[in-house]
Amino acid sequence: GAPVEVNVGRLAEGEMMTVEWRGKPVWILRRSAQMLAALEGHDERLADPASQEAQQPAYAAGPQRAIRPEFLVLVGICTHLGCSPSEKFAPGAVAGMEADWPGGFLCPCHGSRFDLAGRVFLHQPAPTNLEVPPHRWLDGNRLLVG
Ligand code: FES
Repeated sequence: GAPVEVNVGRLAEGEMMTVEWRGKPVWILRRSAQMLAALEGHDERLADPASQEAQQPAYAAGPQRAIRPEFLVLVGICTHLGCSPSEKFAPGAVAGMEADWPGGFLCPCHGSRFDLAGRVFLHQPAPTNLEVPPHRWLDGNRLLVG
C-alpha cells in the first residue's frame, strides 16, 4: 500500500483522528501536556514499558513512542484478536479503575487496557503494546504514514 499523507493542522489538543493505511485504522492523537505527564509513574503496571516487544520503528523508542511527543501515531487494532480499542482519555474513565486509570484505550472485546502511548497494562489478554506504524513528518503539519 502507498503511504498516506495526513494534515494534522486542525487537530486540537486532546483530539484524535483516524486515517486508513493498508486497510488498517491509524490513529493520530494530539497529546496535551497533561496527557504526556500521565505516561509517567506507572511503569511497574505495564507489561513492556520500554516497548521492547512491540512492533514499532526505532525512532519511536522511549516511553512516549513518538517522533514528536505531542503526536502519537498508532495502528488502532488490538494486538489480542484485532478488535478496535475505544478512547478512554479522561483519568478515571474506566469503570472499576476510577482511582488509578491514567487515561488511554480500552478494548471492548476482552477488556485489554492500554495507556496514552498504547502500552498494554499487565495481565491483559493483549500480548504486546499497540503497533506504531512507519511514519515521518514532511513539515510542521504534514505527516506521512507508511
Ligand atoms: Fe482486544 Fe481481545 S481483541 S482484548
